[in-house]
This record gives sequence, C-alpha cells and structure tokens, in this order.
Amino acid sequence: MGRFYITTPIYYVNDAPHVGHAYCTVNADALARWHRLIGDETKFLTGTDEHGQKVADAAEQHGLSAQDWTNQTSARFREAWDALDISYDDFIRTTEPRHYESVQKFLTAIYDNGYIYKDVYKGLYCVSCEDYFTLESSDEGRCPIHGRALTEMEEENWFFRLSAFQDRLLEYYERHPEFVTPETKRNEALSFIKGGLHDISITRTSISWGVPVPWDDRHVFYVWYDALINYLTAIGYGRDDDEVDTWWPSSHHLIGKEIIRFHCVWWPAMCMAAGLEPPSHVQVHGWLLVGGQKLSKTMAAEGGVRLSDIAPVQLTNEFGIDPIRYYLLRETILGNDGDFSHEGITLRYNSDLANNLGNLVARVTTVVGSKCGGRGPAPQMQSPLRTEAEMAISETKAAWGRFAPQGALEATWRLIGATNAYLEEHAPWKMEPGPELDAVMGDALEAIRLVAILCSPAMPGVAVEIWRRIGLSGSPTDRVVDESAQWGQYSAGAPVEKGEPLFPRMKSDE
Ligand code: MSP
Repeated sequence: MGRFYITTPIYYVNDAPHVGHAYCTVNADALARWHRLIGDETKFLTGTDEHGQKVADAAEQHGLSAQDWTNQTSARFREAWDALDISYDDFIRTTEPRHYESVQKFLTAIYDNGYIYKDVYKGLYCVSCEDYFTLESSDEGRCPIHGRALTEMEEENWFFRLSAFQDRLLEYYERHPEFVTPETKRNEALSFIKGGLHDISITRTSISWGVPVPWDDRHVFYVWYDALINYLTAIGYGRDDDEVDTWWPSSHHLIGKEIIRFHCVWWPAMCMAAGLEPPSHVQVHGWLLVGGQKLSKTMAAEGGVRLSDIAPVQLTNEFGIDPIRYYLLRETILGNDGDFSHEGITLRYNSDLANNLGNLVARVTTVVGSKCGGRGPAPQMQSPLRTEAEMAISETKAAWGRFAPQGALEATWRLIGATNAYLEEHAPWKMEPGPELDAVMGDALEAIRLVAILCSPAMPGVAVEIWRRIGLSGSPTDRVVDESAQWGQYSAGAPVEKGEPLFPRMKSDE
C-alpha cells in the first residue's frame, strides 16, 4: 500500500462552475476513490483560484468587492462538488492566509537562490488566459484560444529565470518518462521546452488583487505564479516540512490540455528553483466539446454555448448524480477530447445503466424473490462466471492504475455483460426451484457483489444501494479491493430486496 496525492486545477472564480470543470473533478474523485479502495493513504485536493485580473473584473462587473465576489463564487464550486458527491479531502482557496504564507516562502526561496530579477516587460495580454502572447504567438493580435483582441501592456516586473532550466527540464523528462501522460501530451510539453524557454514576468503593479511580493510591496504576484503553489500550500509548504516530505513524492496533477505549459514546464522549473523535486506525475485530459467547441465561460458570454443548460447541479437534478458521473468517466478516454450532449447521456444511460446494470440487478433480485424465498443462495466455487469475473477484476484494476477510468468501466461492464449472458443461457426464470437454480442465482449475486465493489469509485451511491439490495451488511468500500474482490464471498442466506428500478429508462429526444 502506498500514498496517493491527487489534485485538480484550482478553478477561476470569475463565473459559476460548468460541466467542463465537473469533468476534471469527477475524474480526480474517481481516481481518489479507487486509491482509497486499494488501501492507499489518499489526499484529494481541489479548490478555487481567486486572484488576477479576470476575477477582479468579474467582481467589479457585479458591483462587489473582490473578496465578497470570490466568497460567493467559491461557494458555488463547493455546492457543485457536493451535488456530484465529490470526496475531496481539502478545498483550497488562494485568498486564505495559509496560501499567502506558502507562496511568499516558496518565492522567497527562489529569490534567495538567485532565479528572480527585475526588468521591464512589454507584451500582448489576454485577460481570459491571464497570459501574455507575442505578436507571432498571437492570432494577428487576437488571442489564439479566446479570439478576443489582446491588450498591449508595459510594466516593470520581477522575472523568473525560466531560461536557466531548459537542460535540467530535458534531463528530468528523460529520467522520468512517465512524468507527463499521455505520451502525446508529454511530447507537446517537450516541444515547448525544446523550442526555447524565455524568462517569465511573475509580478504585477497594475493590479493589487494578488499575493504581495515580500521583498517589494508595490508588486503582487502574477496569478499563475501564485496559483501553482496551491499544490504545496495544501501539504503545508513552509509550515510543516514532514507533511511535504510525506505527500510530495506521490503527487499527481490532473489538468486540462490548455494548461500544459504552466504545469509541465513552469511548475517543475519553479520547484527546481526553490530546491524541491518536481511533482511526480501530471495527467493531462482533453476538453469536453459542445458541437465541436470548448465549453468555456468566455465563449458563453460571447454567445457561443449556453452554459446555463449545462451547470453540474442542473444535470444531476435531471439525470441523477451517479449517471452523470458515469457518463463523464465512461464516454471519453482520459487524454482525448470528448463530445458532451444530452442525447449522449441518454444513450449511455439507457444502454449501460438501464439495460445492462439495472436490468441485471432487477432480474436477479426478482428471481431470488420469487423462487429462492427472498434469500440469496451461495455462489459455486467452480463457475464459468468465476473466470469472467477474475478477468474483469484484473483488467479493472490495471486500468484504474494507469489513470484510465474509461477502460476500467469498460472492463467492469464486461462482467455485467457476461452475467446477463449467463442468465440468458440458463433462463432461471423458467427453472424450477432447487439446487440448480440456486447455483445460477448464487453466481449471479456474487458477480453483482463484485460489480458493486468495482464500480464504487465511479458510482458510489449506486454501489452502496446495490450492496444493500443484495442483502449485504456494511458497504462495498469497507475492505481493500484485494481482499473483497475475490470470488466466492457472497453471504448465502442474505435477504434480497427487489426495490424500484435502479435506472428507469429515459425517453430519448429522437
Ligand atoms: N485557474 C487555472 C488553473 C490553475 S491550476 C494551478 C484555470 N482555471 S479554469 O477554471 O479556467 O480551468 C480549470 C480546469 O477546467 C482546466 O484544467 C480546464 O481544462 C478545465 N476545463 C474548463 N473547460 C473545460 C472543458 N470544456 N472540458 C474539460 N475541461 C475543461 O485554468
């Protein structure tokens, strides 16, 4: 058993959470739940990124102070995560005193190590990205991501000597081939590094909404420069060295593909400059697209996508918590872009949840009710289903282990498919009560028990409900998966309950 420290990016609080944010958070949550299930000591961090121009502008537009605005919007993220059953261990806000303390200590370490100097910065700025572009890297003076006109800015700034880290970064990548996954994204990061690194401006005097620079009180840190440090704040950087030593070597950052440069180039270099090892792993995910467009707040504001239709809380009200979690995890391979649509959710729901899982549980509980006196029979130790189950268990484990929730669910669903096929082959609904029927039903109940365990990181609520319906005490996550996911542990004689359909079929729009 090991340790697992997983983080999401911290979300900007310029507007409410949307399903693109939920995508990242649900993936991180499922991975955290899986690692708890294998017995790893796990810490799952998420939170909100509250400084910078974009947030200050949003507060002003709403006639609120920056702090009031961030309090309000940060709370909406927490509400969304509660609605999605997100099991974070810590929720960080970058306006918290603990963060100021860690940021100031971390950056002072870099300053003391000689990697920070003063110069004049001139560039084209995109407020939505909170990032500078050169004329060449811009789209003829417009932001290549948001399409909006860039603002010309000139400031006296403090700079981070990123250029000094090119060789060290390349060497780090060489020695840690799994630092960034998937491979395509690793190559993208590598090509940024090989393309040449320029020093970066890390402070601002044009705004005051930020963490003050300890050695120059006219400046605040540039929002990205304070934000990245949140991953260390939460494990006590500058306050508790043991805590940092405990968690940092098993750190995993889950991030969207547009923030690769910050996490896979700047961040490891910043860590090196402060005298710390880089994080151990960055897993990159793609974007959820609606009609081929990234779901972003800025685009919505410009009339592109109607985000009000896809707020996480609304989705869970419409489809249920676990079906949405399942869809987000199952539909898209982590690392690829995916399409998000209501029709897509309905299709997945009806096929995988209603027809496969729901139907399996309904069939088994019904037959046990009508032909086994409502008590679950024992599984057979030698069963054709056992082989299928063991294969599914090992494939599911391997997939979660390589950050592939989609593959894990596919493997688990193969066991559901095999169990449904087993039932069809024996047609217990046509059999007379007796040992033969009991054997089939015991096997099916055992497969359902295993499915409940294996799907619990994705659908924690459903897993518990299935466990209860097949009459088991405790919960599917009470024991580590290596002990519980072994064929043959269903407790014979347990009271089985049919109950309402787990996933009533949904009408599709077509
Ligand atoms: N505040 C920075 C991150 C700082 S981390 C030290 C930021 N915030 S964000 O709110 O704009 O985005 C946070 C995450 O949400 C990113 O990983 C981004 O990829 C993800 N998503 C935002 N829209 C998305 C989709 N449409 N699809 C999938 N994820 C996307 O960047």
